[in-house]
Amino acid sequence: MRTTTFSGFVFGSAGLLLVLFALNACSRPAAQGTATLEFLNVADGVSYVGDAQCATCHEAEFAGYQNHGMARTFDVLTIENTIEDFSGIVLHHEQTNYFYVARREGDRFVQEEYRLGPTGEKTHQLVRTMKYIIGSGSAARTYLTEIDGRLYELPLTWYPHNNNGEGGWDFSPGYDVENGRFGRAIPPRCMACHNGTSQPVDHVEGKYSSLASGIGCEQCHGPGQLHVETHQAGTVLDDSVDLTIVNPVHLSIQRRMEVCQQCHTEGSVSVLRQGESAYSYRPSRPLEDYLALFGVDSDDANTIGVTSHAERMMQSECFVVSRAMDCVTCHNPHDSFRDYGPEYFNATCIDCHAIDDLQAKVAPSTRTEHQVDSNCFSCHMPSESGRGVPHALFTDHFIRVVQEDGFSTDEGQTEELELKPYFERDLIGAEGEAYTGMAYMVYGRQNDSRSAMQRGISMLANALQELPELGEAQYLLGFTRFQLGQVNVAIPALEESIRLNPEIPERLNTLAQAYEVAGRDPSSIEELYSRALHIQPEEASIRVNLGRFLEAQGRVEEALAEYERASLDEPWLISAQYNLGTALLRLGRTADGEQSLLEAVHLDPDHSDALTNLGVSAAGRGDEGYARTLFLRAVEANPRNANALANLALASANAGDTARARQYAEEALAINPNHPTAQQVLASL
Ligand code: HEC
Ligand code: HEC
Ligand code: HEC
Ligand code: HEC
Ligand code: HEC
Ligand code: HEC
Ligand code: HEC
Repeated sequence: MRTTTFSGFVFGSAGLLLVLFALNACSRPAAQGTATLEFLNVADGVSYVGDAQCATCHEAEFAGYQNHGMARTFDVLTIENTIEDFSGIVLHHEQTNYFYVARREGDRFVQEEYRLGPTGEKTHQLVRTMKYIIGSGSAARTYLTEIDGRLYELPLTWYPHNNNGEGGWDFSPGYDVENGRFGRAIPPRCMACHNGTSQPVDHVEGKYSSLASGIGCEQCHGPGQLHVETHQAGTVLDDSVDLTIVNPVHLSIQRRMEVCQQCHTEGSVSVLRQGESAYSYRPSRPLEDYLALFGVDSDDANTIGVTSHAERMMQSECFVVSRAMDCVTCHNPHDSFRDYGPEYFNATCIDCHAIDDLQAKVAPSTRTEHQVDSNCFSCHMPSESGRGVPHALFTDHFIRVVQEDGFSTDEGQTEELELKPYFERDLIGAEGEAYTGMAYMVYGRQNDSRSAMQRGISMLANALQELPELGEAQYLLGFTRFQLGQVNVAIPALEESIRLNPEIPERLNTLAQAYEVAGRDPSSIEELYSRALHIQPEEASIRVNLGRFLEAQGRVEEALAEYERASLDEPWLISAQYNLGTALLRLGRTADGEQSLLEAVHLDPDHSDALTNLGVSAAGRGDEGYARTLFLRAVEANPRNANALANLALASANAGDTARARQYAEEALAINPNHPTAQQVLASL
């Protein structure tokens, strides 16, 4: 009994692809610092030269520095530098039902994702090469895969302290909450804290045209070109201070600490200042000119975070009273403490706390603990797990007499979220309000908190009345409003952000989407997408948006060309494969279309729409048995997919299974009461 045809393809339902990266992408020069000494090498235009150059004249610093974790925090994974166990331990990600394993394949290392069918066979498999390491491995080691210059984080991380110190695999930080699979692009901010001067490709997230290997000399000393040229020319400088290179010893204690704090800084949320980019901070300049930092109150101010060393240290009486303590008091920046015993640090304590004084001060019962060979920091700087990073220990740098209750409490969990500015200037005026507002939006996006986003919107809308020229803030305001569905108020902010800088593809892309939703003139929408792609042709997600827009206009052939290009530029972009497959099917190119859809399903086995469209195509070829299997999988992947349910109802009816047909059709109508196929099936039964 064949009563109706299968309902049409779902096309373009990949949804709008929002792109929001490189929050700060323009390149206005940073404000000049207020340091008393003006170092010449931090001026614009002085280039970086790389560590190999420095090594030619500073052999000792270079050699010592190679042992430091910072020198080795970014590298290529090779057989020689592995510390991991590649014997094939499998981890199961419960929520998403994927299995993961890291293993060796000849001379490369891979992470594999798979699923198992009922009889134990692999029903899905994706393999990615572990190309780069982030983290020297003292606390954790995360891996990146590279596809065509684009870097993505991998799901498994090695934790050397897991398993009673033997080390073990677990999910990368954050993956337990949301499994990013192989799709988490590495943003320039992450790279800037973990690697020397690398070259991000503008407006293509996660893509780099060159990569350093490890944090370099110039991250702490500033660009070296001027210094190297001066000394290569044999110039003798009469100043006691060589102004061609920053030596942090010549800076005020605050600026000196900030050299380390550019990376060793906790702030659950940080926002780059207008005009700054990931690599624009220069040693000797005020850190507050580079970014705004915020702590999250409800995160419990009393626990230590992975990068909170400076904040904790600055609470210590040693710091407050002596006014002479900074990171370098205890840490030689050109050597690793890991090669020395505890006396390496304890000697610094005794420099300021003479044993005789201690003996006189401490209670008689603890005198024996206060000898020359005592391990002072084991009691006064205990280790604790850092926030957000499993299996890793961090040292609390708040030096004090630790009370019984330790340093981590559950208090501070406030109902109302508060972001606390770290720099005073963010507490005052319209500028402070603008950056705080941006921080709420960033926090809201990261934590999926609508109320935080809404709060950010109010603050920003207010601040921008006074400071309308803050382009990045205008964009973030428009973007967040758009995300919350407030299209009509989003548009003016987005337009203003583009007026301030017409060359940023993300902004053009978002405005085009907002115009689409608001039903604006199609030619202006097309123009915006085209301009974005003219500036950065490689950003495939914007190209998919253009294709989807053209397809909705009925211009399927043109859309097809965009999808084809996008899927070549970024073959693992699921929406490109999906839209390509569906457009091909619409044009009657069944075999090619099914192949692209199969690729989409290969990348995402839970892609319900791709499975449905494959089913419709199979049914069209007369293979209804296969179609029914596909519709079933589509419904399993997304039980709320009305189109899949309706098609499954029809396939069941055609197969004579009227009971199930009725059930599926009713389920489809419960979701979409007007679904024509479901209505027809019910009527025919
Ligand atoms: C051609 C040789 C040469 C090269 C290459 C070189 N330096 Fe130097 N550097 C010197 C000399 C000579 C001094 C000591 C005299 C002075 O400071 O003027 C010095 C001093 C320094 C100082 C101390 C400055 C002070 O005021 O205390 C630092 C820091 C420094 N170099 C860092 C670097 C870094 C980083 C690099 C690589 C980007 C580098 N140098 C490359 C020759 C060189
Ligand atoms: C460009 C960013 C950056 C700067 C600047 C920086 N650090 Fe680091 N630091 C890191 C990263 C990333 C790590 C983790 C390295 C790893 O993978 O083990 C680290 C690790 C360390 C460690 C631990 C090393 C180990 O063996 O575990 C110490 C100590 C340290 N930094 C001190 C400092 C001091 C002191 C300064 C300033 C003089 C400084 N850092 C400046 C990024 C930075
Ligand atoms: C604001 C600077 C900053 C950013 C951004 C940042 N990190 Fe880090 N990260 C650090 C510092 C500093 C440490 C060292 C902390 C310590 O040892 O106490 C660290 C430690 C680590 C470690 C452990 C290294 C070890 O000691 O073994 C890993 C792994 C890591 N980061 C990965 C990442 C990844 C991946 C990203 C981006 C997605 C990222 N980090 C972003 C500053 C940063
Ligand atoms: C993590 C930050 C950091 C890195 C990376 C770093 N330095 Fe330094 N460097 C410093 C600090 C801080 C000082 C001041 C040292 C002190 O007070 O002992 C310094 C001092 C120096 C000096 C002056 C030495 C002296 O005795 O006065 C030279 C030369 C130097 N560094 C060269 C290098 C070279 C070469 C590299 C790369 C191989 C490098 N530094 C990497 C932070 C760093
Ligand atoms: C630059 C000098 C300096 C260094 C280095 C230093 N301290 Fe202190 N420390 C002080 C001063 C000054 C005080 C406050 C006055 C006092 O108690 O002597 C202090 C106070 C303390 C206190 C009492 C804090 C309180 O809240 O009651 C402890 C405990 C302590 N230091 C331990 C250490 C340990 C352990 C180290 C080494 C890891 C160390 N200090 C390194 C200068 C220093
Ligand atoms: C009073 C001495 C002292 C000062 C000052 C100090 N540290 Fe440390 N630091 C230590 C000790 C002790 C350890 C733990 C050593 C160990 O585990 O063997 C440590 C460990 C670290 C580590 C390794 C990861 C961890 O948490 O165990 C990092 C990173 C670090 N310090 C960064 C800094 C930074 C950044 C500063 C300046 C804000 C700083 N330290 C100031 C004594 C100090
Ligand atoms: C076994 C743990 C332990 C070790 C090891 C230890 N301390 Fe203490 N320290 C304490 C305790 C507990 C107190 C507080 C009770 C007291 O005053 O006796 C204290 C008190 C102090 C004070 C504060 C004295 C005052 O009342 O002003 C200082 C300073 C200090 N220690 C420094 C050091 C230094 C430096 C070392 C290494 C030579 C060290 N401690 C080793 C446990 C330790």
